[in-house]
Amino acid sequence: MWDPRITVVSIIACLLCSSAAVAVEMPELAKKNNCVNCHAIKERLVGPAWLDISKRYMGDPSAEEKLLARVSKGSSGFFGLIHMPANDPDGYKQAEMRELVKFILGLSSSKNTSGSPVE
Ligand code: HEC
Repeated sequence: MWDPRITVVSIIACLLCSSAAVAVEMPELAKKNNCVNCHAIKERLVGPAWLDISKRYMGDPSAEEKLLARVSKGSSGFFGLIHMPANDPDGYKQAEMRELVKFILGLSSSKNTSGSPVE
């Protein structure tokens, strides 16, 4: 017999279990702005893993402004030989870029979306 209450309970249980276990995922903004073409949270793709970027700039109070500028205008020579093209050359998407930089910098601290440091 199908009992709708059981379905509801299992959906809720599943939501709870997934939010506890799922690793940090790329935010929607990163998909929308194509960051995911070159970046992942933990693995190096074309660009460095965002977690590695976060660790590198840990404790640097000017990191947010620096990275905002580099993400917007392009970056090279900090992690290797590959160049990151400008993602916001005209400055129309600074709010989105800043949000992404904050997300990246938060990965190695307790401020990330999973609530605990990513290892
Ligand atoms: C075409 C591939 C590509 C795309 C698209 C891309 N990146 Fe990158 N990204 C790179 C590469 C390559 C580097 C390493 C550059 C270097 O060595 O300075 C990098 C470096 C970075 C860094 C570290 C910069 C530094 O100076 O230390 C940040 C932060 C970053 N990317 C964020 C983003 C965000 C946010 C987006 C989307 C808005 C994005 N990237 C899109 C390839 C890409």
